[in-house]
Amino acid sequence: MSGPKKLHVKSFGCQMNVYDAQRMADTLAREGFVETETIEDADLVILNTCHIREKAAEKVYSELGRVRRLKDEAAHHGRKVTVAVAGCVAQAEGAEIVRRAPTVDLVVGPQNYHRLPDLIARAAQGERVVDTEFPVEDKFDHLAPASAAATRRRGVSAFLTVQEGCDKFCTFCVVPYTRGAEVSRPAAKIVAEAERLATAGVREITLIGQNVNSYHGEGADGRPLSLAGLVAAVADVPRIARIRYTTSHPRDMDDELIAAHRDLPQLMPQLHLPVQSGSDRILAAMNRRHTCDDYLRLVERLRRARPDMAFTSDFIVGFPGETEADFQATLAVVEDVGYAGAFSFKYSPRPGTPAAERDDQVADTHKAERLARLQALIDAGQDRFNESCVGRTFDVLLEKPGRHAGQLVGRSPYLQPVHVTAEPSRIGDIVAVTVTSMGGNSLFGHIVAPGERPPANIGTSAIAHA
Ligand code: 5AD
Ligand code: SF4
Repeated sequence: MSGPKKLHVKSFGCQMNVYDAQRMADTLAREGFVETETIEDADLVILNTCHIREKAAEKVYSELGRVRRLKDEAAHHGRKVTVAVAGCVAQAEGAEIVRRAPTVDLVVGPQNYHRLPDLIARAAQGERVVDTEFPVEDKFDHLAPASAAATRRRGVSAFLTVQEGCDKFCTFCVVPYTRGAEVSRPAAKIVAEAERLATAGVREITLIGQNVNSYHGEGADGRPLSLAGLVAAVADVPRIARIRYTTSHPRDMDDELIAAHRDLPQLMPQLHLPVQSGSDRILAAMNRRHTCDDYLRLVERLRRARPDMAFTSDFIVGFPGETEADFQATLAVVEDVGYAGAFSFKYSPRPGTPAAERDDQVADTHKAERLARLQALIDAGQDRFNESCVGRTFDVLLEKPGRHAGQLVGRSPYLQPVHVTAEPSRIGDIVAVTVTSMGGNSLFGHIVAPGERPPANIGTSAIAHA
């Protein structure tokens, strides 16, 4: 076969995985792999799996059934396809995957993507490779060099990993087991990477980590730096106009970080702050270590610091022992906070987690019914939030071409997609847009002309209170 080797990464799950997919593609680009959108064309297929919810492992095995058929088909035409499983299911299942799925050549955990070239070379020799060891070297070292070249593809908004792992041990969650203990990257490395990203045209950086606001990496003075300190350091990087961070635990929102939302214009007024449940009894059983009232007071303090703050959350319905009254308390939180959007999930027992062992599991029919009610309430809140933006003017970072010629899509401060008419040369600009209508989850608007009198509410607005 001639031509470059082709890589297809199929990602499931969280933002961390989207970012990891880029990392894998960057690492393999240096080995001559080019990415293909078409799985049928690929010489190397990587399933980048997520373990967090709902029968994750089973879904991977059924996906592997499809991949096996592709691989067999290619073999008929004399073409070898290498199949790799990466991500958190790879980490959790390890060698079990090669035992159960003969089609898999390689299993690699999230800590070891920098070793992919070597692992693929071993797989090419016929070895069935499993690498889910937690490395002892600085596990972030491999992240730095790839960024500048890769960023152009990533556009004007980039993710930057600042910590991995979680020490919270919520009783439903596998992350502390699959991603390991919290490790924070030194601030100097993060700032250096932010500088490289900025040079490559990035205007917005989202600092990511499983429990990002527990960040405590080494600061310039050798002492641990908080996330607020890190955000301030990234805000000093020229051309970085917008900073976000995700995902946060309510317990780790300290005064300094709340003050940063008041003091740093670069820090966007939007926060993903999962509450999971509105019932104190369930929150305690989940080991969330805060009450519903703690959470509501935190939201209030953030809104005092930044009145136009928009919140999103994750919810779990049907956690073991959840009653209708507990669930009503969850509905009440949705109303109280007035979320701009939220993800909601049926509780799914993850093997090895304490909640999975409980004998008061909730019947699936209750879970399904509660999920539908919760989602209806969340959707209505999201529509209300989007409607509240119509007629307002705020800054939009223009990111990429829209679906129609002459159109660009950008993001509002609250992360909504906003469609405007603009030349492609304006990608990367931050422009004032007056929102004229909404459609689905996006907004439509027009760029405020230079002579047009700017409305009084530029940059703020869209208050999400219910
Ligand atoms: N069942 C259902 N949802 C879960 N999540 C995490 N673990 C589980 C589970 N076992 C959800 C939480 C978390 C989000 C990323 O996934 O809401 O915030
Ligand atoms: Fe999982 Fe809880 Fe850690 Fe989030 S804070 S990653 S839900 S253990």
